[in-house]
Amino acid sequence: MTTAVYPGSFDPVHRGHLDIIERARQIFDRVVVGVLENPRKHYLFDAEERVALLRASLGPDSAVAVRPFQGLAVGFAVEEGAAVIVRGLRAVSDLDNEFQMSLMNRRLEPSVHTVFLTTSFANVFLSSSLLKEVCAFGGRIDEMVSSPVAQALRERLGPRAPARS
Ligand code: PNS
Repeated sequence: MTTAVYPGSFDPVHRGHLDIIERARQIFDRVVVGVLENPRKHYLFDAEERVALLRASLGPDSAVAVRPFQGLAVGFAVEEGAAVIVRGLRAVSDLDNEFQMSLMNRRLEPSVHTVFLTTSFANVFLSSSLLKEVCAFGGRIDEMVSSPVAQALRERLGPRAPARS
């Protein structure tokens, strides 16, 4: 049985991420989505909320699990018994950083391989940061995220959201 982990921030998950999960699901027997809890990073949604939004966006599928993780992505992969880390590529510009990360991950843990998957053309422009900005300025995000995520984003960032420091 081949397990792949798909680590990321998912702050929040959008259709580009869901597209990658669906593609990974077609290739691997089991996909574990890893939601990074990095205490040095400021997130809009905490790890528990990001996990819940992923689960609500994915629907029931016993072959896809969602777990929070701390520390190194390769450590998470080993813990999950995964030989593969999946990462999504939107454009060539993503490759610079992803290439560097994959080589570092291989140096850290040679038994874990990185597999890059590309999103469909309709999703190439999507990023969690852009979505948060668009939502904060009142733009429409509904086609780009699942309805639980759209609702959560509006509650947190929309005009009636409590002020954030
Ligand atoms: O969704 P993101 O923010 O692009 O995901 C980046 C992520 C979480 C995959 C990357 O930052 C990561 O793997 N962090 C865990 C810590 C780690 O393993 N760092 C070394 C990477 S070479």
